Amino acid sequence: MGRSSCSLCFRRLVATIALAVAVGAGSHVPPAAAQTPQPVEPAPKTPLPLPTGAIASMTHDVKPFGTTREGQEVSLHTLTNRKGLRVKLISYGATLISVETPDRSGKLANITLSFPTLEGYLGRHPYFGSTVGRYANRIAGGKFTLDGRTIALATNNGPNHLHGGPTGFAHRLWKAEPVTTPEAVGVKFQYTSADGEEGYPGKLEATVVYTLNDAGELRIDYTATTDKPTVVNLTNHAYWNLAGAGSGDVLKHELLLACDKYLPIDDTSIPTGVLADVRGTPFDFTQPHPIGERIGALKQEPHKTKGYDHCYVVRGAAGQLRLAARVKEPASGRVMEVHTTEPGVQLYCGNFLDGGPGANGFKQHEGFCLETQHFPDSPNKPEFPSTVLRPGETFRSTTLHRFSVEP
Ligand code: GLA
Repeated sequence: MGRSSCSLCFRRLVATIALAVAVGAGSHVPPAAAQTPQPVEPAPKTPLPLPTGAIASMTHDVKPFGTTREGQEVSLHTLTNRKGLRVKLISYGATLISVETPDRSGKLANITLSFPTLEGYLGRHPYFGSTVGRYANRIAGGKFTLDGRTIALATNNGPNHLHGGPTGFAHRLWKAEPVTTPEAVGVKFQYTSADGEEGYPGKLEATVVYTLNDAGELRIDYTATTDKPTVVNLTNHAYWNLAGAGSGDVLKHELLLACDKYLPIDDTSIPTGVLADVRGTPFDFTQPHPIGERIGALKQEPHKTKGYDHCYVVRGAAGQLRLAARVKEPASGRVMEVHTTEPGVQLYCGNFLDGGPGANGFKQHEGFCLETQHFPDSPNKPEFPSTVLRPGETFRSTTLHRFSVEP
């Protein structure tokens, strides 16, 4: 072996070790299919206040929410816990359309960006609360190789494939059924994605279960199985504004990310493959910082982005439910923690919200997203944790949002 190929081997070895250390999974990163949801950590120290009119039991109410352009009926599911926290979901896109939580005085507000009627969700929109799949985030050039075969997907974001393609799971009707456990009330959504849909191989059976409990926790559990090797990366694309949707921008929200590394991107938002240290950069949220504090630096060289739209490496072992993010809105006292089994979380700050009807009037930075997921473009980056799902395996992923208030 010549000297140059030896040094290449060495560089690859160093890169592999660096990646293994960075994802915090020791020498082995479990594939998506091997991940098992872990028990949830104890309830928060500051429980949500009991608003007046608190109810006696958790409830799940179902109502019609209009029909699709093909005439299919869409259902609206309202989950309420004993503290009055209320979550609304629709079967179109298995979409989270409202989360009402109390502020420190007990006053409820919807803290997720949405449309008032189904119409807004039927058209192109910024994925407000959508379940995103079959592959959340970007695949470079809409192409990848799987078992020696080149897979070509539609491109819908410049040269790249984004959020499952032009239709994607956000624009599919999911079957819905109620779920009740001793501690929680919820809805299970199910969708069968046909072999070849959006170019992906394999018939994929996907489920998304949302549950709400009295500890102020909204949990999302995903599963998927396939009949041919394929790739899977599922997330929820909710935009949050803890002061209340429509109350202005989110730049004063104080954000902590349990992430020591992030993925720098090229000018089409594809990760370069490097896992960069956040220390000393505007990407460092290892201590709480207002989201807007250093956003100006991102708009200039060398980043030249409209704001945060980057995937972070969540500290700790993928497959374990662990803290990814904690956000506090100082004026209302509302706090949201995000825990996940995923290796990454995409921080996106509504950079492309344009105030137009397609965004229900929401303007740039009026919401932020914490999209828990595998790293973007993993199908083309063998050094990233694998997103390949094979027949006989079950993809499992869990994300938990814990809502509370601070004085
Ligand atoms: C993601 C992407 C963004 C943008 C939004 C949808 O989070 O990373 O670049 O495409 O979805 O508007």
